[in-house]
Amino acid sequence: MQPIIEISNLTISFHGDEYCLTAIEELTLSIFKGETLAIIGESGSGKSVLGQAILSILPESAEIQGIINYREKNLLMASDSELESIRGGLIGWVPQNPKMGFNPSMKMWKQIAESMIIHTDSSWSEAKRQAISLLERFKVLPADQWADAYPVSYSGGMLQRAMVAMGTSVNPDVIIADEPTKGVDLLNKSGITDLFLEMKNRGITQILITHDLDFARELADRVAVLYCGQIVEITSKEIFFTHPRHPYSHGLLQSLPQNGLCPIPGNAPPMHIVHTGCRFKDRCSDSKKECKNPVPFFSMNKDYVRCFNYHNRDQS
Ligand SMILES: Nc1ncnc2c1ncn2[C@@H]1O[C@H](COP(=O)(O)OP(=O)(O)O)[C@@H](O)[C@H]1O
Ligand SMILES: [Mg+2]
Repeated sequence: MQPIIEISNLTISFHGDEYCLTAIEELTLSIFKGETLAIIGESGSGKSVLGQAILSILPESAEIQGIINYREKNLLMASDSELESIRGGLIGWVPQNPKMGFNPSMKMWKQIAESMIIHTDSSWSEAKRQAISLLERFKVLPADQWADAYPVSYSGGMLQRAMVAMGTSVNPDVIIADEPTKGVDLLNKSGITDLFLEMKNRGITQILITHDLDFARELADRVAVLYCGQIVEITSKEIFFTHPRHPYSHGLLQSLPQNGLCPIPGNAPPMHIVHTGCRFKDRCSDSKKECKNPVPFFSMNKDYVRCFNYHNRDQS
């Protein structure tokens, strides 16, 4: 499989008057064509910053180093016009908060149709027709009536589905969705899962940023686990959910209700401090002396794990 997005040594920092916060550090990750990759991790671990970096929509205050190649083009060096044609066209984006993602004074159909106008040859009337059929497909019914409504009259679940319709309106090559099930009730969650399954079956590459492990289990081919700005494990969904290697991945699974609801003790260290050694060591029941040293990313066949337990073990 060919990587469609290749991220190498990505570091993203935010500098304030009195602080410097590194939200992503030395992150290397390939996303392959047609796969669904779930990026999971606790709140504040850098998931949204990573998604926004791929889309090049981080605020100017972000200092970014590294490479983000999309089909061998480094997005961090791309011009504004190149980025405009990629964003929303080739790479679709479903942002974290659907309530903030819409213009309150524009009818829904127009907001969905806009990217078709920008990225395709559609006329407004053709784009409106397509916007209505997208709303229909994503079960915002009756679609012709809701298309003419403003976002304020939509429920949370409908907004979420309309957001997915907007993010996928021009058949993107890749879709990045940030917490698409957050705040959504169980019934709507299963509808959203079906939408992403349908896109997966159509061969669209998906990056699903989520802290919802059940959602990741339904959809992902691979899982990348982010902890405190670093990826600590990349593995197949099967291994992640049955034999996760990193103690943090293990702890995440143990905290699920079906596994006994045992939360990981302690909290993640603050992002603005200078970290030495393993960032998880103070919460890890397996921590050793050597965990005070920087931990390399050990590769094991196609998987990666950042933990000394895997030093010299199964490495390829
Ligand atoms: N624009 C910003 N300016 C300063 N700090 C930011 C900004 N955006 C995110 N951060 C910080 O970066 C870290 C990672 O944030 P985020 O990616 O939103 O976490 P997640 O999505 O995993 O919950 C957090 O400590 C957050 O406060
Ligand atoms: Mg987030």
